[in-house]
Amino acid sequence: MTFSAEADGALSPPLWLLAELTYRCPLHCAFCSNPVDYARHPNELSTAQWVDVLRQGRALGAAQLGFSGGEPLLRDDLEELVAEARRLGFYTNLITSGIGLNEERLTALKTAGLDHIQLSFQDSTRELNDFLSNTKTFDLKKRVASAIKAHGFPMVMNCVLHRYNLPHVDKIIDMALAMGAEYLELANTQYYGWARANQAQLMPTAAQLQEAEAVVNRYRETIGERCKIYFVVPDYFENRPKRCMNGWGAVFLGIAPDGAALPCHTARSIPGLHFPSVLEHTLRDIWHDSAAFNRFRGLDWMKEPCRSCDEKHLDLGGCRCQAYLLTGDAANADPVCDKSSNHEKVIQVITAAAMRDRTEQPITFRNDKNSLALSAKASH
Ligand code: FES
Repeated sequence: MTFSAEADGALSPPLWLLAELTYRCPLHCAFCSNPVDYARHPNELSTAQWVDVLRQGRALGAAQLGFSGGEPLLRDDLEELVAEARRLGFYTNLITSGIGLNEERLTALKTAGLDHIQLSFQDSTRELNDFLSNTKTFDLKKRVASAIKAHGFPMVMNCVLHRYNLPHVDKIIDMALAMGAEYLELANTQYYGWARANQAQLMPTAAQLQEAEAVVNRYRETIGERCKIYFVVPDYFENRPKRCMNGWGAVFLGIAPDGAALPCHTARSIPGLHFPSVLEHTLRDIWHDSAAFNRFRGLDWMKEPCRSCDEKHLDLGGCRCQAYLLTGDAANADPVCDKSSNHEKVIQVITAAAMRDRTEQPITFRNDKNSLALSAKASH
């Protein structure tokens, strides 16, 4: 049985295709959004298989294409894939830590037709940038930012926010302005993947968030069109959930390095769902007919209180991954919603965070050893 992403019956195409080329990464960020068990999925599609995915995705109606990872620059066929994407008519974005982005590759990516680069920083200070990524990469990232601008790429600077760097938000904005970034994405940590493993250390206080938002608003008033700042509020501090991914199986189609097709980056954290592989199925079959993509599409899957809620069309029940992580059932209402009987779990997390000293326990950095250890723990 095929369901629809929209209440009126029309299934929209996957407008946004994300090619996660590899889970390999030179950084070890404490809030990496890759699945915690990524080391259990070491296989990667070949160049020819990725080209086939891009062609199928474009034929299905995808218009925006992100190349991400891990670190997509670790694939030496990146330029070839960008060129193919350009030929197909995609608008392309490279989502990168910047490590490996030298003059030669920037020239090659420009020639291949790359449209946009999103460069991540962990903080405005070398100390915190290098601590949170467990590398010494701050100076290199700054050089990469200048080179990106020198090659004429529009640039998004991305910085994930949490209790360590929220007090630096003014300095982070200053850094983005000095680098000439056209966009600054200040993405408050969402607690999936590695961020969930480090939630106790990363969760900010409500006061930190309010202060940071006030700083952002002051800058917005003065900098005008120079740089557009996105400040994505963490939904743990809201009382209505976010419309996650704009709906499950509605506009987003992610392809993991090994070819698994995912309705969101962290869908693999939900047990009991089989995510079909592009090695076994066409993208069309996956998007239209797979059980995984249809599982939470539209509104029919909802239980109470979502089912009878007059706001269900707005938030579509919130985030399925968050519902699973906090309640053990991905079909429950996202507990961020204060109509959920599990909302107290969110309140407990933020109350505990406000009382806790972040130095109480060490950070679990993203690396293969920790990935295998955490997945072994989860399966016991
Ligand atoms: Fe998976 Fe929200 S992150 S549905």
